Amino acid sequence: MVRVMVPATSANLGPGFDTLGVALELYNVVEMEETGVGEDVIEVEGHGEALTRPENNLVWQAAQQVFRRVGWRPHGLLIREAIGIPVARGLGSSSAAIVAGLVGANALAERALGRRLLGREEILAMAVALEGHPDNVTPALVGGFTVACLDGGRPLYLRLDPPPGLEAVVAIPERPLETRRARGVLPETVALADAVYNLSRATLLVAALATGRLDLLPAATRDRLHQPYRERLVPGLGAVIEAALAAGARAAALSGAGPSVIALVAAGGAEPVAQAMEAAFQWHGSHCRVLPVRLAAAGARVL
Ligand code: HSE
Repeated sequence: MVRVMVPATSANLGPGFDTLGVALELYNVVEMEETGVGEDVIEVEGHGEALTRPENNLVWQAAQQVFRRVGWRPHGLLIREAIGIPVARGLGSSSAAIVAGLVGANALAERALGRRLLGREEILAMAVALEGHPDNVTPALVGGFTVACLDGGRPLYLRLDPPPGLEAVVAIPERPLETRRARGVLPETVALADAVYNLSRATLLVAALATGRLDLLPAATRDRLHQPYRERLVPGLGAVIEAALAAGARAAALSGAGPSVIALVAAGGAEPVAQAMEAAFQWHGSHCRVLPVRLAAAGARVL
């Protein structure tokens, strides 16, 4: 049996649409086992029937890609999932499932065959192909803050350790939002001025994180490429971001495609920011749960 633990992730971080991401200490744990008998079985704690069907289950689907690639498959696969990452809330639940399926299946095959099979780069390329963009799967796999780029289809990335003393608070609305819908409201083309606005901030953000200039984060996490368009799917988004900043957050942004909002705070500063975000969502008619969460230095791990 293999057990894999994969962190939640928050993509974009404001200006870094489809590029930047960070891993969070909130986990899905997946076990995989060859049963030796009959059909594959999927068990998902607390998530009803739908996810236990292979056609709906990304862990199973990702695992099949590995088995095809390495030329080995278990005789009867049991997958057990404990899901700690809220689903369809912009916290990387589908990326975590994909990474868990790839890493778990590779570990299972390696044990069965007694040799090393897929390396991290190959697993990342498979994860990006399944997910479509690299900004969640990269930190889910390698942890920390990541910058990811597709170069002729090949993922390239750099990882930075989370700066000491920086933590997160996520405000997670009750109502889910499908990524496909949140991408559907984005324009095909954008104004050059908006592209430059984001380019300058995304690059400033990476340099600020790399050099520890956390004072630059409020300006460096502003965005004009996706958040303004997604506000109609996440009522109060702008107000929640401003409320978090006014309450002392270093940064606040839509988490991935939303609807969650992530704020980055100095250690010990979570409480007022959490309260401010919850109140602002409430004011705009959304109930949300607020969760202080640490930034995860490590990505997926086989336990
Ligand atoms: N960069 C993606 C988006 C993340 O914002 O649509 C969601 O998967």
